[in-house]
Amino acid sequence: ESKKRDALYRMHKDAARFFYKKRCAHDRSNEYLRSRGIDDDTARQFAIGYAGSEYTGLYDYLKSKGYKNEDLADSGLVLPDRNGKGYHDRFRDRIMFPIVSVAKNVTGFGGRLMGKSDKLPKYLNSSETMIFHKGTQLYGLNLAKTNLENGRLIAVEGYMDVISLFQSGIRNVVASLGTALTEGQGRLMKRYVEEVVLCYDGDGAGIRATVRGIQVLEGLGLRVKVMKLKNNMDPDDFVRQEGKEAFQELANNALSTVDFRIGLLEETVDLRRNDEKIQFVTEATKILKEIKNPIEQEMQIQRFASRMQIEPGVIFKEIKNDDPKAI
Ligand code: GTP
Ligand code: MN
Ligand code: MN
Ligand code: MN
Ligand code: MN
Repeated sequence: ESKKRDALYRMHKDAARFFYKKRCAHDRSNEYLRSRGIDDDTARQFAIGYAGSEYTGLYDYLKSKGYKNEDLADSGLVLPDRNGKGYHDRFRDRIMFPIVSVAKNVTGFGGRLMGKSDKLPKYLNSSETMIFHKGTQLYGLNLAKTNLENGRLIAVEGYMDVISLFQSGIRNVVASLGTALTEGQGRLMKRYVEEVVLCYDGDGAGIRATVRGIQVLEGLGLRVKVMKLKNNMDPDDFVRQEGKEAFQELANNALSTVDFRIGLLEETVDLRRNDEKIQFVTEATKILKEIKNPIEQEMQIQRFASRMQIEPGVIFKEIKNDDPKAI
């Protein structure tokens, strides 16, 4: 068991070196990285690689290093041929992002196509293995953990977001590997910080992932803030277009989760209509009710009521009314 684990770790490190060397010597990969604004230093920092287009390039290499078929199959790096006789590489003709644990082990990979394809997914990730559990890993945490400005992490969606922000000098960033943030990932964050700033893509999927992320992280007792990116941008787009200072300013002015959630509600109503305004204030009151710190709650209610041009007393009364009477 622990022998197998050890073999898988060594194999992944060998694979990462293999991909890295390929990339350094591969013009199309280097042009691609350049076109995305990634410089050589950053590519080295993240050990960005390239998986060639041969069917068995990595397989042959790992065999030559003495790894057994059984261990190779368990690594998920190779897949059995359809006829069941041999193996072929899982990742082909992709830019490779090694996923490195806080213990500095390579536990898996993300691979991106350089072009567009109707048939193949843009990103392909390692399958779950004995050493790779998507739900308990965070891309970039190996680097972010020594760069924890003000004890907080910025959580983004993608590999390129982490890399691009890191290159711009913002280094306390991790990505949740495409999946919605899991409780396991939240617990991992909690070992390092007390506050997480969610900075997901500005599209519908990003907003839904933010709502879910707030639930998961606040459920674990983490402080959460939200950055909203305009015009469907993602953090990589934003920092490349607007620069590091603009990103940091947005991070420093990140919304409280209450403001974010009330803001979302507000987008769905027409406040000039009385019935919709009443409905909105009622729903917003439920959100304000969840604020645990009584002083913060008082301040937020005052602010919200004045913005709605209603008596704060109405909201205070509504919140009290909801309390159970018998206890
Ligand atoms: P770029 O196009 O390279 O900038 O990627 P992105 O990170 O902006 O892509 P996107 O916002 O579409 O996706 C965010 C993250 O979700 C990616 O970094 C991946 O981890 C994951 N993801 C995106 N597309 C796929 C896919 O087709 N398959 C899988 N398994 N994951 C994906
Ligand atoms: Mn495990
Ligand atoms: Mn997206
Ligand atoms: Mn994106
Ligand atoms: Mn992107």
